[in-house]
Amino acid sequence: MKPQLKNAKPFLRWAGSKKQLIPILSQYWDSSYNRYVEPFAGSASLFFNIAPSAALLSDINVDLIATYSQIKNNLPAVIRSLYKLKKSPENYMRIRAMDPSKLSPSTRAARFIFLNRYCFNGLYRTNRAGIFNVPYGGDRSGDLPNKLHLKACSTCLKTARLVSCGFSTTLEAVVPGDFVYMDPPYSVKAQRVFSEYDASVFSEKQLKLVKQWMRKLDRKGIPFLVSYASSNEGEFLSKGFYTQVVSVKRNIAGFAANRRRSDELLISNVHPSKEGEIL
Ligand SMILES: C[S@@+](CC[C@H](N)C(=O)[O-])C[C@H]1O[C@@H](n2cnc3c(N)ncnc32)[C@H](O)[C@@H]1O
Repeated sequence: MKPQLKNAKPFLRWAGSKKQLIPILSQYWDSSYNRYVEPFAGSASLFFNIAPSAALLSDINVDLIATYSQIKNNLPAVIRSLYKLKKSPENYMRIRAMDPSKLSPSTRAARFIFLNRYCFNGLYRTNRAGIFNVPYGGDRSGDLPNKLHLKACSTCLKTARLVSCGFSTTLEAVVPGDFVYMDPPYSVKAQRVFSEYDASVFSEKQLKLVKQWMRKLDRKGIPFLVSYASSNEGEFLSKGFYTQVVSVKRNIAGFAANRRRSDELLISNVHPSKEGEIL
């Protein structure tokens, strides 16, 4: 890793972040790959860790990608707006109530980072009208990311093309030489987790499309890694590919008090050259 990128770690809290799996996930990346592609970027924990020299990052969340663009291209203006915002439950509600379409792109990004830091459990949830509606949860959420941290992320993002779109659009742009990491939302039945990102649900149909893309990437000889909760749906994704089972701590139903260990499947068309259980 280049020395100036050593502070690059996610600056957002994100439901389903793979922060705790980075030491294992990063073993699938090889610096001989031309480009890193992540169609379900979220807080982009693997991207910031490996700091690739070229990347394509995308997510369906328009505000998330707009925030990354501002951190990449307009950092001083984001910093000026961000540190004017002071933490308190009242300020949180006032800032949450602002109409983001009336704000400049940098102030809008600052608002996004502020709300993400001080909302309940770092969730991103909107109502039917697309208005962010997560309650305040700032008492135990730590501080805003500092300038040095944001600067490191900005430097890291300079190598990335940022696009807000559905995963298929991104995967259509993949070419030989790329490496693809996919971390789709869980669509496991009877779990609330899928509603943590947006009003829309990641459906079984979309999961089948992910599987079709895995087969297509494999046929083209493009290496990929998919992470997914151990479940019937996870088994479906893993069939025909190398699968490693790892244990993770998860907040059940979004509540930190309900943290339990559960299994995550790491599915790839490249044999993971490390110890661990391979299905
Ligand atoms: C499990 S999170 C990714 C977490 C990420 N790996 C990290 O470490 O933070 C899944 C992401 O997929 C995004 N997403 C949901 N549906 C999508 C779709 N149809 N196309 C692209 N992204 C989508 C969500 O906005 C969310 O950020």
